[in-house]
Amino acid sequence: MSVTRTDFLAPVQVELDDFERRLHAVVRADMGPLADAMQQILDAGGKRIRPALVILAAHLGQPRIEDVFSTAMAIEFIHNATLIHDDLIDHAPTRRGLPTIHEVLGPGPAVIIGDYYFAKAANLMAQVGDPNIDVRLSQAVMTICYGEMLQFTTQRKYEQTEEEYYAKIGRKTAVLMATSTFCGAVTSDQPKEAVAALERYGHLLGMAFQIADDVLDYLATEAEVGKPVGNDLKEGTVTLPLMLALQDPGVDGRLRRVLDRPVLRDADYAEVVSIVRHSRAIDESYEVARRFGEQARAALEVFPPSSYKDALEELTHYVVRRRN
Ligand code: IPE
Ligand code: IPE
Ligand code: MG
Ligand code: MG
Repeated sequence: MSVTRTDFLAPVQVELDDFERRLHAVVRADMGPLADAMQQILDAGGKRIRPALVILAAHLGQPRIEDVFSTAMAIEFIHNATLIHDDLIDHAPTRRGLPTIHEVLGPGPAVIIGDYYFAKAANLMAQVGDPNIDVRLSQAVMTICYGEMLQFTTQRKYEQTEEEYYAKIGRKTAVLMATSTFCGAVTSDQPKEAVAALERYGHLLGMAFQIADDVLDYLATEAEVGKPVGNDLKEGTVTLPLMLALQDPGVDGRLRRVLDRPVLRDADYAEVVSIVRHSRAIDESYEVARRFGEQARAALEVFPPSSYKDALEELTHYVVRRRN
């Protein structure tokens, strides 16, 4: 389907293929059951957006390619470890079209495998030996934990402000994208202003990305996204589409009445999803995501034209239009 095409990554396709081979080789050389689990997750798919961000950002400078690959790999490990833990927390039965680790192996192994790959990322970075990157990566993981905690403390808080929502998604998602572009800039020796611009771009792209993810949870099918849909609501995670639907006069209090029921059953969840899906909140959420994308592109204005810059710009459209 055209909306999910990623041909705009052509300028770095050779590196992305090389990255993929290296990623699999590193995992294959890893320890028994831990490697098996990670291999299955990687084989199942994943868009590898964060490695693409590291590599593209690095091409706006003079990439030190070994360091670029190691950093991209560490970030992809952190991302996958986060997903393993996130799926356990969200009680998600599937990811990338496969049963999740906690479903197959149990919650204990899911915690251990996640922990292992967080440590593995730190280990890879220790080999690169750049304290600037170490500080940022460890800070990113701390920030993601903070974001996931905020998600707990704002559960079923339907009247939360948009600022609260942005603070949450900025921490749980955008920070790792900002870290990806930051690391790409640092491993290609770019000047301070360029590093800051790329970091800002990554953050704004990440905001657009998570809003689109939150819309897909209402709009897409499980077959498309490879993970459960309608799950945010069931977990009490209040996202922008629901918040905006609650403000839609066309929804006319129907939504509030369902949400106020003392116990929500499957039919109630389905009703909420249907109300949100047919409300103006979908278009409005996508409009907010597009505005973040626009700001992300504006952050790139300091860079001269190049095919890598074009790809970063195109990525801002892709993350909003994607269906998986
Ligand atoms: C999923 O990230 C988690 C979110 C931040 C929404 P991705 O959508 O990048 O996951 P994969 O790696 O492509 O499966
Ligand atoms: C992103 O949020 C999770 C992390 C950044 C850990 P979601 O919970 O929406 O991600 P999915 O939908 O499970 O991929
Ligand atoms: Mg989740
Ligand atoms: Mg989601």
